[in-house]
Amino acid sequence: MFYTVIGTQWGDEGKGKIVDWLSFKAEAVVRFQGGNNAGHTLKIKNKIFKLNLLPSGIIRGKKCIIGNGVVLDPWALQEEILKLKKQGIKINSKNLQIAENICLILPLHKILDSINESNRGKESLGTTKKGIGPAYEDKIGRRSIRLCDLSNKKILKRKLDNLISFHSLRLKKSKMNINAKKILRDLISIYKTLKKFSYPVWITINKLGKKNKLILFEGAQGSLLDIDFGTYPYVTSSNTSSGQIFSGTGFGLKQNNKVFGITKAYTTRVGAGPFPTELNNKIGDYLGKKGKEFGTVTLRKRRCGWFDANLVKQSVLISGVENIVLTKLDVLDELDELKICIGYRINGKKFDYLPFGENLQLKAKPIYKKIQGWKKSTYGLTKWSDLPAAAKNYIKIIEEIIGVDIAIISTGPERSQTIDRKKILGNL
Ligand code: GDP
Ligand code: IMO
Ligand code: MG
Repeated sequence: MFYTVIGTQWGDEGKGKIVDWLSFKAEAVVRFQGGNNAGHTLKIKNKIFKLNLLPSGIIRGKKCIIGNGVVLDPWALQEEILKLKKQGIKINSKNLQIAENICLILPLHKILDSINESNRGKESLGTTKKGIGPAYEDKIGRRSIRLCDLSNKKILKRKLDNLISFHSLRLKKSKMNINAKKILRDLISIYKTLKKFSYPVWITINKLGKKNKLILFEGAQGSLLDIDFGTYPYVTSSNTSSGQIFSGTGFGLKQNNKVFGITKAYTTRVGAGPFPTELNNKIGDYLGKKGKEFGTVTLRKRRCGWFDANLVKQSVLISGVENIVLTKLDVLDELDELKICIGYRINGKKFDYLPFGENLQLKAKPIYKKIQGWKKSTYGLTKWSDLPAAAKNYIKIIEEIIGVDIAIISTGPERSQTIDRKKILGNL
């Protein structure tokens, strides 16, 4: 059996909290795309854990796997492991495996990310500058250094020289110096720590799949940041939709799957790009403040807006989402009236999906359905029956529009502040 958790919006939907919650009965938790551009915050009994590369199951000591679809910054991973160990989390070769064919992010990728962004001028994407895009470019360009390459100094040196030489023109033009010797030294030294985690993880995952153990695939980012289906070019450089779990890990089984679409009760976005329901007003500011909408990775202020059911409906179809997990419902508690976007008007024409053209996306005017607020606290509620009638109504209207059940509702950042409406954990 396997569960997949994906974000249905522009990221930061609360995936980390839900993966931690669902991982209670999981045998393994697996990342399949993205890199340390992800920032997942978990709150457990007042302790805060921030994860970028490590799957959120690490907090419960579950077997965690970083699949080949991820791009790995070895320096960043080393730091993250140290930070978590200081917080008392056990990380060893029994509970962490990293695909030996994973492609690496090197310091030059971060530099190239910054150069790309500044070259775009006013049209910069607002990336996290973690080198994600350039690292994936090198992967597809067949120039990457992979984790397994670190075991052989000769091969590593040849590959590193080739890579630096490939990028040398652009790096020189920007007067950025790359210290190849230091990178080589660092990589060899870091490999001493990382070697024990390096493994052909596809073997582990397929073995677990055969045993019918619960495997939890943890998506990073969100559907609208998908390189194919997102608001291109204002997207990340990986496929964030559920289809990526197979090529991103080598998992070959396709039955007994359930996809959970993690969905914030309103919408946020960090970085540039179209956002039809964005609120540049008091309500937007209110959502940002109450929802503490600041990026985990870059600490940037997240843009906030009304719930866009049109977009979520799209993500549900693309990722085969069977159950929605609605998060941060409590953030809406004090609003008099709420709005749900049910379609767009673009150049006088009605759309029940977001067309791909950038010019059309920028012109999309939301068509809203108004709903009464509940003006009562839902913070920390754990029972469906305790929700105010108007909050239940908001949830039911969203379900009707997007056509799938909202199975789980999150009412606060803590693991325990969760309503298991359809007994998902209960029935596992
Ligand atoms: P992710 O990237 O999808 O894992 O989401 P982030 O961790 O970047 O952002 C979600 C933030 O909201 C985190 O700080 C969580 O602790 C917090 N959070 C998650 N669920 C809830 C909730 O239901 N209510 C509130 N108030 N905060 C939540
Ligand atoms: P989690 O997993 C929100 C955004 C960046 C930028 C765009 C491209 O925490 O939900 P990149 O560095 O990936 O090339 O940046 O994607 N972005 C995210 N936004 N949550 C994330 O991850 C994100 N990861 C990347 O802000 O707009
Ligand atoms: Mg995040």
